[in-house]
Amino acid sequence: MLCQPSACSLTVQAPAKLNLFLRVVRRRSDGFHDLETVMTAVNLFDTLTFEPNASSEIQLRVLMAGTRNRSSRPAAPIPTGADNLVVRAAQLLKDHAEISAGVRITLIKRIPSAAGMGGGSSDAAATLAGLNRFWQLSRSQEELMDLAAQLGSDIGFFLGASSTAVCRGRGELIEPLRFPASLYFVVARPHSGLSTPAVFKQCTPGVSARGVDEFVHSLKQQGLGHTVRLLLNDLQRPAEQLNDEVRQLREHFSKLPVLGHQMTGSGTAYFGICASLQQARVIAARLRAVGVPWVQVASSCS
Ligand code: C5P
Repeated sequence: MLCQPSACSLTVQAPAKLNLFLRVVRRRSDGFHDLETVMTAVNLFDTLTFEPNASSEIQLRVLMAGTRNRSSRPAAPIPTGADNLVVRAAQLLKDHAEISAGVRITLIKRIPSAAGMGGGSSDAAATLAGLNRFWQLSRSQEELMDLAAQLGSDIGFFLGASSTAVCRGRGELIEPLRFPASLYFVVARPHSGLSTPAVFKQCTPGVSARGVDEFVHSLKQQGLGHTVRLLLNDLQRPAEQLNDEVRQLREHFSKLPVLGHQMTGSGTAYFGICASLQQARVIAARLRAVGVPWVQVASSCS
């Protein structure tokens, strides 16, 4: 997360994530699922700007970047009220700190919604970290992590200092993961999205025997050629059952010279791992040529 303060505003970049490994271990009594996942932040960003508000209100304005192309517009408008995670994060921090200050927040959306790329979670994390600075609250990382866990499972990952991590439990138990190489991706999102609760509901937990440790060992020790054979996402099968566009993306990717490919999170975005940035650009052009509506090249954040 990058912060750029100016005299009276603060701008924060909120990255997207991709799940390189996602195993659904079991369904829990609280309705959530225990996971083993490896997430990596990538250089596709939403931008949030925080400015003073004369009133004590939290006001959010959402601008969609690059929506002149009709196919890249979201089907439903992004909410700007209390059902937006950014507003909820700001309100939670304001209540926690017991302050009367308000804020005007401008969110420029580039990360597609309902795509499994963590856009909403990353925006919420950027709000907690950004407003902690903007309101000069000096809340500890531990306190922010606690607030993050109240808001959603993935938010702690984006608050953490590490751009790649193994996340367990509901997603909130985060172990930083360092590995030497940059990873290059081509990321595609079909017209439609998927609801995360619906995909988890459709999923059968505990079907994959292979745990995250083998994947992590490979990523650290055995190189990309070996690691791509261990890619896993237990949510892909249920997502394909619910949304045929995910299956169609898998078929497109299986004909491309990527090192490995799979869906991210609960979908519907899909990524291929490429040998180089140049190869990712070539593959992105091929996906655009067959009509995939949203295609981007990305690399893992360092
Ligand atoms: O925590 P978050 O709000 O991101 O989760 C959205 C929904 O995804 C949850 O309400 C739940 O249905 C599902 N989920 C789950 N297990 C997880 C994370 C999310 O079942 N570990």
